This record gives sequence, C-alpha cells and structure tokens, in this order.
Amino acid sequence: MQRTILTVAIALGVLPSLPVAAQDAAAGQRVFNQCRVCHVIEDNGRNGVGPNLHGIVGRKAASLSSYSYSSAMKAKGEEGWVWTEDNLNTYLENPRGIVPGTKMSFPGLKDEEQRKNVIAFLKSQG
Ligand code: HEC
Repeated sequence: MQRTILTVAIALGVLPSLPVAAQDAAAGQRVFNQCRVCHVIEDNGRNGVGPNLHGIVGRKAASLSSYSYSSAMKAKGEEGWVWTEDNLNTYLENPRGIVPGTKMSFPGLKDEEQRKNVIAFLKSQG
C-alpha cells in the first residue's frame, strides 16, 4: 500500500513537468508575435528588418552572411558572443544594454516569464 502511494506521488510529481515545456513554447509563440514585425523564424533563409532567427539558440552573433548587421552586432560576433539561452535572456531584456549601437529598435521584454517563454519557443524552432 505504501509503495502504491509512493508510486502515485512520483507519477504526480513527474507528469506535470512534461507538458510544461510545451506550454512555455506555446506561450512563447504568442510573445514572438512582437518579434514577427521584424523577424522571420521559418527555415527559408529570408531576412526581414531583422535577420532570420531559425536555429538562433546556439548560433554565433551576426553570423548570417545574407544579412547586413550593424557594426556593433558584428563586433559582438567577432568577440565570440554566442546566443546561448543566458545570453538571449540578457539581450532580450535590454538589447542596447548588452549591444550598444545595435540597430534592433526594440525596447526589450521586461517580464522574465515572457523572456523565458520566448526563448523556449526559439529553441523549439531549429
Ligand atoms: C523593430 C524591429 C525588431 C523587433 C520588434 C525585434 N527585433 Fe531582433 N533584431 C532586429 C534587427 C534590425 C536586428 C539586427 C541587429 C544589428 O545588426 O544590430 C535584430 C537582431 C536580433 C538578434 C541577433 C541575431 C543574430 O543573428 O545575431 C536576436 C537574437 C533577435 N534580434 C531577437 C529578437 C526577438 C526574440 C525579438 C522579440 C522579442 C526581437 N528580436 C524583436 C529588429 C527587431
């Protein structure tokens, strides 16, 4: 009997964690509507006002040869800056804070939950 209770407790503890990641990405897709004005994320190579963001998580800054980055962003890439989840979190909170002179005219996402979700969505795309 005790063992059954234990098993149920483990199951209850583990199960909710599975759909949560998917929920984050779904919520992040809604947040991404703010980015869509300038960014395409589909894997078709197209750039908008901003560069295509397909596979951005793990990509080096300013690495698309098809896009004309600001010299500030190019310098960031040359310095070895990679878009890890942590770096995306810092950039998306205040783009100009970490890349002064970036031509991404977006004030930033002040809400940590929104940043977390949009990064989960970016990660799910490529
Ligand atoms: C008003 C247009 C605009 C909006 C809105 C916008 N961006 Fe950008 N984004 C840009 C531009 C332009 C650049 C290129 C920056 C540069 O070269 O300095 C850029 C660059 C980036 C980069 C670096 C890409 C690379 O290849 O190094 C990331 C990551 C990024 N944006 C994510 C986002 C996310 C996520 C959102 C939504 C939360 C967003 N952006 C909203 C215009 C925008």
